[in-house]
Amino acid sequence: MKQIVQQNFSGVDGLQIETASASRFTPLSVLVRNKYTPVLPYDWMTEYGLLKGIRPVKLPMVIGYGFGGIVEKVGLLRDKSLLGKKVIGAQPTGAAMELINSQLPPLLFTVPDNVALSEAVTLIGGADAALHAINSINVTARDTVLVTGASGGVGTYLIQLLKLAGAQVIALASPNNLNFVKSIGADIVLNYQEELATQLKDIVPPTKVIDTVGRTDLLQLIAASFAELAIFSLSLTSFTPPKAHQTFKFSNGTIGVRGYRRLLNLLADKQIVAYIQAKYKYTDVKKAHLTAKNGLKQGRILLAF
Ligand SMILES: NC(=O)c1ccc[n+]([C@@H]2O[C@H](COP(=O)([O-])OP(=O)(O)OC[C@H]3O[C@@H](n4cnc5c(N)ncnc54)[C@H](OP(=O)(O)O)[C@@H]3O)[C@@H](O)[C@H]2O)c1
Repeated sequence: MKQIVQQNFSGVDGLQIETASASRFTPLSVLVRNKYTPVLPYDWMTEYGLLKGIRPVKLPMVIGYGFGGIVEKVGLLRDKSLLGKKVIGAQPTGAAMELINSQLPPLLFTVPDNVALSEAVTLIGGADAALHAINSINVTARDTVLVTGASGGVGTYLIQLLKLAGAQVIALASPNNLNFVKSIGADIVLNYQEELATQLKDIVPPTKVIDTVGRTDLLQLIAASFAELAIFSLSLTSFTPPKAHQTFKFSNGTIGVRGYRRLLNLLADKQIVAYIQAKYKYTDVKKAHLTAKNGLKQGRILLAF
């Protein structure tokens, strides 16, 4: 089977497609024929050595974290009814490969019949992080939440899940994405590239911020514009808010099996939608990663196997 391997820290040039044999099938194994792996910032940032401080890795390694595919074989200790089912999951040891040997039951989820695998797989490293952020700061219908990175793989789900929670949403985006984030449901959209401080003066003050961008200067500018603010970041591990009634929290926790079930049901009920920017064949992985790193972002890019 084919797999995509990171050989060094020189960016996409260090990616190689290799032929490997599937890892040992055990009683705990579920063998999944992988159809899609999401391209996450986690992947390309690791390739360029940008996460060395927080994600030490041993090279060479298979890239990718999430997968979505069809179950081909089930180990003795696993649920036999999984056979032939559509599943999504996380594979912390690398997911960009044709055959996934999934051995951790809490990291594998069956996909409802009316949800496409390509849609469901965007939950991994996307909606799961968004839901975790919302749970972490107890968003209620009384909140107005400012979201940075609103057009991305996490941000597009943040807007939708915040609206489902009844909150008002202020979305920050680049000029080319203002209409896009508005169409997803943001109540107010702000262009972070132009006079943001002035725009922030003219809006209802947010009660909370969910940051997916991780720019200290951007958070400083936002925090300077309001007296009270609870700031949560998925991308910046530390930040000192400038004012007394402001808090900051970073977390990369999980949402558990119930969280994933809830998200899959929301997709099945059409209460949330997966925004898929593009699908690339896995052999075009370099192009896919360069677009994810440098191009305009609108939801999630997928590698197709
Ligand atoms: N802690 C966790 O558990 C966890 C889990 C998942 C993800 N994350 C992190 O969350 C972050 C977002 O992930 P993602 O998958 O949503 O990324 P993504 O799909 O690449 O989206 C990032 C968004 O950031 C915006 N952006 C890019 N450069 C910017 C800049 N200089 N200033 C302001 N906005 C900028 C882009 O929107 P525009 O084009 O409109 O500017 C883009 O839509 C990543 O850092 C990721 O590592 C953390």
